[in-house]
Amino acid sequence: MASLLVLNGPNLNLLGKRQPETYGTTTLADVEALCTQTAADFGLGCEFMQSNHEGALVDAIHGAKGTHDALIINAGAYTHTSIAILDAVLSVELPAVEVHLSNVHSREGFRHNSYLAKGALGVIAGFGAQSYVLAIRAMAERLK
Ligand code: DQA
Repeated sequence: MASLLVLNGPNLNLLGKRQPETYGTTTLADVEALCTQTAADFGLGCEFMQSNHEGALVDAIHGAKGTHDALIINAGAYTHTSIAILDAVLSVELPAVEVHLSNVHSREGFRHNSYLAKGALGVIAGFGAQSYVLAIRAMAERLK
């Protein structure tokens, strides 16, 4: 069975409590349960990792090589700043989809740039927890 690693970056551990007007009331545990169910619907396994630390996310991406077949990544604010996370994704050569709960393009200008996008097959933003569902669905098609 092919396996996905779903990575969540800084502050996403606070989902549900953090700026609910922007990110909704769904918790990270709810998002993970939704991902597990969606992945299972497509015959995929799914594991999760969340960290507030850039290096830990880089390590998790390195560790995915040989263990997982694809990455679903919401790098949070590191999306807009981290060349290290982009380089990690390019290094492992695993297919990746970039995800955001909010529509980053309708927000502040500093959220419009994504370093990570250069290493991603595609970007899904603005659909709340459903962004993850859409990303898994797109990746499942790609892994067929
Ligand atoms: C986010 C958008 C980022 O700009 C922000 O820093 C986050 C969450 C999102 O899911 O909408 O932490 O990645």
